[in-house]
Amino acid sequence: MAEGNGGFSSSGWSLRGTTALVTGGTRGIGYAVVEELAGLGSNVHTCSRNEAELDKCLREWHAKGFAVTGSVCDGSDRAQREQLMEKVSSIFNGSLISWKPTVDFTAAEYSTIMTTNLESAYHLCQLAHPLLKASGAGSIVFISSVAGVVSLGTGSIYAATKAAMNQLTKNLACEWAKDNIRSNSVAPCIDILHTHMPDFLLLNIQNLVATKQDFFESVISRTPLRRPGEPKEVSSLVAFLCLPVASYITGQVICVDGGMTVNGFYPNI
Ligand SMILES: NC(=O)c1ccc[n+]([C@@H]2O[C@H](COP(=O)([O-])OP(=O)(O)OC[C@H]3O[C@@H](n4cnc5c(N)ncnc54)[C@H](OP(=O)(O)O)[C@@H]3O)[C@@H](O)[C@H]2O)c1
Repeated sequence: MAEGNGGFSSSGWSLRGTTALVTGGTRGIGYAVVEELAGLGSNVHTCSRNEAELDKCLREWHAKGFAVTGSVCDGSDRAQREQLMEKVSSIFNGSLISWKPTVDFTAAEYSTIMTTNLESAYHLCQLAHPLLKASGAGSIVFISSVAGVVSLGTGSIYAATKAAMNQLTKNLACEWAKDNIRSNSVAPCIDILHTHMPDFLLLNIQNLVATKQDFFESVISRTPLRRPGEPKEVSSLVAFLCLPVASYITGQVICVDGGMTVNGFYPNI
């Protein structure tokens, strides 16, 4: 997110005059983030790999009067990231998830998940730095995961990429503070059932094979609010962190998880 020449509006609750890049904006959390930022007045550029889906989303946003542009880009590809950043700057979102026990991951899977989830975010920040600095009020919001904060009993490579992203959030907050660039991370656990995993998938959690429904119910039973979250409940925080009113918030990792990560024995006592 970078401030444009027009400067922020007088309201600290507006993104008018800013530009933002939301990677992976055609579904789920990314889609909600595009709508939230555009609704607050930002000019948004988004990307994804599926051109037909991207075009459909762009038509929907234009019908709502939002200033959104888009381009096809595979965020796991270095050259495509460089092409993308010739157009804009900031937020990374898309990621690859694989739920398996640690001993079952191949070297190729390790490499692909690391590249898609971590290297892409790292490289996009490097590419965005000059634009964010020039804006005078840059903001990076990483989409991390509760998997980078607590163990979900499976998917250790995904978890490691998100934990690394959480630390990167803190390092960039300190290193780029002199350039007036803030860096924060949003760590969701919202709807395991409807996002991320195909319906047929069986999960291998701590070597016990469970259905996606079993996993969902187990997560909800550990969640004090006892319901799944909505993408809009994540995008509202992302937008807040981009706003001028959040100008003193940097280096934070904030979970959006209905209280799951702070749960002790609830609801079993
Ligand atoms: N949903 C949750 O409960 C949850 C929990 C924790 C963390 N998260 C994090 O939140 C983020 C979004 O998750 P989601 O559940 O909303 O995902 P989603 O519904 O599967 O949407 C992912 C979006 O990213 C795009 N994308 C995926 N790989 C890409 C790539 N290599 N290059 C460019 N675009 C790519 C997809 O479009 P194409 O496939 O067309 O490229 C799509 O627009 C991820 O970082 C995830 O780790 C989600």
